[in-house]
Amino acid sequence: MNEVTSRRAYGLRGLVTSIVGGVAVSGGHTLPSTNPARLDEVVGEVSFGDASTMVRAVDSAKKAHEEWAAIPAPIRGRAIAHIGRLIEDNAEALAKLVTAEIGKPYGEALGEVREIIDTCDFFLGEGRRLYGQTVPSEMPDKQLFTFRRPVGTVAVITAGNFPVAVPAWYIVPALLAGNTVVWKPAEYSAVSSAAFHELFVRGGGLPDGVFNVVHADGAATFSGLEQSLEAGLLDKVGFTGSSAVGREIGALTGRYLQTACLELGGKNPLLVTPSADLDLAVEGALFSGFGTAGQRCTSLGTVIVHESVHDEFLARFNAAVAGAKVGDPTQDVLMGPMMDVKFAERFEDFLGWVQPHHTVQAASGKITKDNPRDGFVGDPSTGLYYHPVVIDGVRPGDRIFMEETFGPIVGIASYQSLNEAIEMANAPGYGLSSSIYTTDPKDAFTFRDKISAGMVSINNSTSGAEAHLPFGGNGKSGNGSRQSGIWVLDQFTRWQAVNWDYSGRLQKAQMDVVELTPDTTFRL
Ligand code: UN1
Repeated sequence: MNEVTSRRAYGLRGLVTSIVGGVAVSGGHTLPSTNPARLDEVVGEVSFGDASTMVRAVDSAKKAHEEWAAIPAPIRGRAIAHIGRLIEDNAEALAKLVTAEIGKPYGEALGEVREIIDTCDFFLGEGRRLYGQTVPSEMPDKQLFTFRRPVGTVAVITAGNFPVAVPAWYIVPALLAGNTVVWKPAEYSAVSSAAFHELFVRGGGLPDGVFNVVHADGAATFSGLEQSLEAGLLDKVGFTGSSAVGREIGALTGRYLQTACLELGGKNPLLVTPSADLDLAVEGALFSGFGTAGQRCTSLGTVIVHESVHDEFLARFNAAVAGAKVGDPTQDVLMGPMMDVKFAERFEDFLGWVQPHHTVQAASGKITKDNPRDGFVGDPSTGLYYHPVVIDGVRPGDRIFMEETFGPIVGIASYQSLNEAIEMANAPGYGLSSSIYTTDPKDAFTFRDKISAGMVSINNSTSGAEAHLPFGGNGKSGNGSRQSGIWVLDQFTRWQAVNWDYSGRLQKAQMDVVELTPDTTFRL
């Protein structure tokens, strides 16, 4: 049973709770959110709700919707502008919290906060656009128009690897377009989420119920979504997470004739062609393979390298991985710890997928006194630190080649012809991000044309998408929805077509139209 504890008692100064209609709701069970770099450090205590908390939050969003949608879009845009400014003024504190809670290196965490500001910068002006069209009619004295209308109430469920940037991709355009929101963040990044929520509500001056946050586990969330859909309270679901859960959400929303916005996993390929600048390719592979400890949906899965440069690429890549700084994420490192025990355990399972025809290039597994890493920054025994792993000799059909392996692991495969390489790149059936390193424009355009991915990098790594290009994937990476920039507006608005006949009579489309008579027999 949930109980109301206080109004506007936000988590950072006490227990992190769900906030429903501006009211802190606690009850159910409480769990600590710990620092993965120092497991004995509790970042915050989090109170988890149940399915009914979710339903109450959606109900409160529903009740707040009419009033929020009635606020003129330019004024909602101003709210987004103020949110962006408040985030900018709190950027370092928010980034520090992200580093403490999920172990993302501080430099990357600051970049993540920047991505929220970029998103606000883009959408603050959209409040003064949110364009519809005027369209000519086939009849006189009649006008046609289109209007964008908000979908209504939106539930957003996000992963914790980008605990603040990815939520902003949904929540900023959803609010701007006149929707009200219920957000269910990841359990292991709940304290950063509480900070994000507080910054949004205070910065935007958002009325109660416009932006609600619910802390709950996956099962409670799913059941809360189902009940909300059944009760007709919920109009849209946005989900970032695994392909397996994405399928479930897609099936659930489909039963209610809704299309969820799904941003799922990836097995992102990086091709290295014979003409590539190998050092540039190594740099790109290093960042996308091991930045965020390989826990981005855009992280590099497999390097597919031409056989003529395979050995040279591998030698340089191994040297770069050996020299990369791993350790304390508050320092200047490439890679910190895994985000949470559940990811560390799953990563150990992935390491079990190594087969006899693979060659593991250096140490692998947990970094310990007996399995040390040269140059480790700090004390590895305090946290969830793993060796960055490079595995040569992977090929289509291998589990390591075919499935997403969320964590610091990169496979290397070799190819003979570009068509074969692209076939290999498409083989896993995901389709989020992809990359090719080449100095031959023909290779670049052939790759762009034939790769199944929604995002293509040329001479750049698979990760690090900018916040105003369409972000999203195909196949097992999503259902075709796109986030960011103008494209995400199609997720959070519906087109309304309006026709206005001021002729004073019923003019029937297709029937009461003037026909011009062509002279079809004319010849020169
Ligand atoms: C994710 O991992 O869910 O393109 C998002 C990137 C980041 C976002 C990743 N801007 O790598």
